Amino acid sequence: MLVTPGDFAEWRSAARGLLAGGVAPEDVSWRGSEEGASLFGDEAVGASAGAVSLPRELLEIAERVICHRDPEVPARLYRIIWRAARDRQLLARTTDAEVDWLRRADKAIRRDVHKMHAFLRFRRLGKEAVRESFAAWFEPSHHIVRLTAPFFQRRFYGMDWAIVTPDARAIWHDETLSYGPGGTKGEVPDSDIVEDQWRTYYGAIFNPARVKVNAMRAEMPKKYWKNLPEAQDIAPLLAGAEARVERMREAAVSIANPLTDKWRTRVPDELLLDDDVNTLDELACAVDRCTRCPLYCNATQGVAGEGPERARIMLVGEQPGDQEDLQGRPFVGPAGQVLNEALEEAGLDRRRLFLTNAVKHFKFEPRGKRRLHQNPTTGEIDMCRWWLDKERAFVQPDLIVTLGASALRGVTGKSASIKSMRSRVHELEGGTKLIATIHPSFLLRLPDRERAAEEREAFVVDLTRAREFAT
Ligand code: URA
Repeated sequence: MLVTPGDFAEWRSAARGLLAGGVAPEDVSWRGSEEGASLFGDEAVGASAGAVSLPRELLEIAERVICHRDPEVPARLYRIIWRAARDRQLLARTTDAEVDWLRRADKAIRRDVHKMHAFLRFRRLGKEAVRESFAAWFEPSHHIVRLTAPFFQRRFYGMDWAIVTPDARAIWHDETLSYGPGGTKGEVPDSDIVEDQWRTYYGAIFNPARVKVNAMRAEMPKKYWKNLPEAQDIAPLLAGAEARVERMREAAVSIANPLTDKWRTRVPDELLLDDDVNTLDELACAVDRCTRCPLYCNATQGVAGEGPERARIMLVGEQPGDQEDLQGRPFVGPAGQVLNEALEEAGLDRRRLFLTNAVKHFKFEPRGKRRLHQNPTTGEIDMCRWWLDKERAFVQPDLIVTLGASALRGVTGKSASIKSMRSRVHELEGGTKLIATIHPSFLLRLPDRERAAEEREAFVVDLTRAREFAT
């Protein structure tokens, strides 16, 4: 029987022995109550058939998934490694029910870990010699204390702390990490003097022009609110957001100083870790915080794609325009209008498409009170592919339609002319199909009405081909 839920080392050592000894999953009782080989029984300990090699990715996933609260997890994991030892391609078999379960369980754990990293708040207990000591109460959904403790160890190395959860606790004392039994909320103070400073800070970084309530809700579900000092401020800040934006607009005499403005609006790192993006909503928050290239300096916000997570068709534009930058949504300005009409003519329902851009921040040149669109460089497009690839991985569209040359570069990573790619369906690595067409804003720029009508027709033909392909 496993003694400590979520203890990967314990499970691994047992599983290793069983696997090496050739003990089949059906002969193992992980709970110690059923018939069959006990985990620490002779079959396991005496095994000497040699080490069994498993894919590294599987071991990494197993280390997370062992933390799942489902009591069947040790047995399920063992069944999977038993199979993986005989089938090296097992993880790639996405239609396999056990692999599917593994991936979903892994996603749940990664999400839980991310929430703990983001929403755990230490309260100051006092000072012992030179080191200050802190405690935090947290209620994770799974047994993730051992999985998350090293993160807090790295981040809060110089102080002593304890993280108390209902199932287990982690203690960092005198630079030694240890674990103990679960506890109660009452062991941790409700508030401390640091709290007021944190709330003031949160109020200062709250930017009413960037409010995305759905994304905020997805990112910070209600269950975490009770332990977050800033949670009580969110409702009043949201209620006043519109009026504050209006006042900001009225007061704006020139474009804000990008550097100082950014300093004020940056969200602290622990609120969202780029490599910890598990949903499209989280991705939208991460895009908004992106500083991978300097374009973020002048833009109001990062604009991520929108649409159903399982859309069959993804439309990729160049970058947000003036309106998109202000509203935080792709294709809501003049080019979006042209696109909407063409989509309708082609019989495509915009609500069923995933719309995004190759570059997530608006690049412009200030001209008086106006902001004139500037083309992104290939370097900027290539830098932003990081996000486009993540969106592609989430949505997994069957077909991508690139609108304009920047989108084509963003998707393929190569500079090719639209002319050379148009009128054919191409296949990208991984099997996704590609249709390359013009950008709708090209139609807005054509002075010759006859030519504009011809180009528009050709654009609708491309979109119709996309509809036919994906229906
Ligand atoms: N142009 C684009 O390429 N994307 C938008 O979202 C808006 C205009």
